[in-house]
Amino acid sequence: MNVTIVGTGYVGLVTGACLADLGHHVFCLDADEAKVAMLNDGRMPIYEPGLDELVARNRDEGRLSFSTDVKASVAFGDLQIIAVGTPPRADGSADLRFVHAAAKAIGRHMDRFKVVVQKSTVPVGTAEQVSRIVRAELHARAKDLDFSVVSNPEFLKEGAAIDDFMNPDRIVLGVDDDLPGRRALGLMRQLYGPFNCNQERTRVMDVRSAELTKYAANAMLATRISFMNELANLADRLGADIELVRQGIGSDPRIGYSFLQAGAGYGGSCFPKDVDALCRTALERGQRLSVLEAVQSVNQRQKLVLLQKVLGHFGDDLAGREFAVYGLAFKPGTDDMREAPSRAIIAGLLRAGARVAAHDPVAQESAARALAQDLADEPELLQRLRYVERPAEALVGADALLLVTEWKQYRVLNPSQLKRAMRTPVVFDGRNLWDPDQLAAAGVTYLGVGRSNLAQMREANPTPQPAQQLALAKKKLRNGA
Ligand code: UDX
Repeated sequence: MNVTIVGTGYVGLVTGACLADLGHHVFCLDADEAKVAMLNDGRMPIYEPGLDELVARNRDEGRLSFSTDVKASVAFGDLQIIAVGTPPRADGSADLRFVHAAAKAIGRHMDRFKVVVQKSTVPVGTAEQVSRIVRAELHARAKDLDFSVVSNPEFLKEGAAIDDFMNPDRIVLGVDDDLPGRRALGLMRQLYGPFNCNQERTRVMDVRSAELTKYAANAMLATRISFMNELANLADRLGADIELVRQGIGSDPRIGYSFLQAGAGYGGSCFPKDVDALCRTALERGQRLSVLEAVQSVNQRQKLVLLQKVLGHFGDDLAGREFAVYGLAFKPGTDDMREAPSRAIIAGLLRAGARVAAHDPVAQESAARALAQDLADEPELLQRLRYVERPAEALVGADALLLVTEWKQYRVLNPSQLKRAMRTPVVFDGRNLWDPDQLAAAGVTYLGVGRSNLAQMREANPTPQPAQQLALAKKKLRNGA
């Protein structure tokens, strides 16, 4: 099939490259000439594992091209997939300017039946707006052409986007129940045919339900995270271990294990923006989404929990102290710094007078840009922030190590190396990645999220471990007790 993708941002580029890999012919349009030149040159504007090879292979084999030519892009694809950005406005609502411009261009240049596929995450009702814009353009040209707007939200996770695209749990298609809608559905089924060989993964519904499905999915996942983060803070007070609680509840199939990881809060381009947008949409319809409002405010607070733990441990004045920070991107596998908890944590440390040595395997450049922007009014703070090439460099002379993003390369922590290199071996584990008992046994002070008090309590008041308890019980038995 011939497919046009409008917008070579994260979603557009992954979608385009994957569809080309399935054998479709894909024309990617972007208004940014520099970006198109970069892509034609084989360089990637974003970091996503495996994407560069996928793009290169499909471009070399002639199934994938990049261009700024709007007219040619509309002429090319029977399917016009809109995957442009929908950045949040100052009031939290989605800015649909680029979606509207794409719809206008399609209406202005189309000369045969087109399926307009809405892939960007957009407020419920946007597909209808797109339809109106295309129709108005056709009307202005006195053209009587059929088209249909389909809502086909994406569920790609950054860092695993190619795998998510190639192995979808479901393909949501929101289509109109009319003649052009049914024709569009046929083409969409053809597009995604390879995914439905063994199992039907397509969920066909009306357009509004499809638009809402995307928000509902992200809102549910964000809710699970905030729920666990709130319980983790309670676990801290109670001296319970949230990791054990997670395992205890996750084994219930009605609950499951995913997205129950407590930590330094969620970030990224989707959860914060989409939960806000859904709350807004509801308010516009006269309904408050109280649960989701709480989900957002819990997350805002959670981003500062690690910083509060540092201040609780060292006092409010961190002048003369140095902190190693591991992981800057909002999650592993990406260089994306949007809404990353590391931004608030590092800014807080610097404001309290600390020096910071930061490491991220991929996101250091984007982190430097993001933090320079966040601290534009206090540029002097940036002088106390440095980025290091290797994680170990950050530890030298540090008062504490903060783990903010759980990249794989941080998994193995060597306690004796920590003790040798650091001024004081203290670890704030913002993703509960490390074993508190192992670190505590090696003389490293460990504070996690929802488990830090436990290690401290064990230190202060050691309780026998199960193995020790068993040994004690056996001894008592032997002694006839
Ligand atoms: C998300 C959705 O998962 C995806 O389906 C949608 O298309 C876009 O939004 P993404 O933003 O790439 O994807 O990241 P995701 O892996 O979902 O993580 C989002 C945030 O939640 C990260 O900051 C992550 O650290 C955090 N998170 C995730 C937790 O704090 N705990 C968890 O258990 C899971």
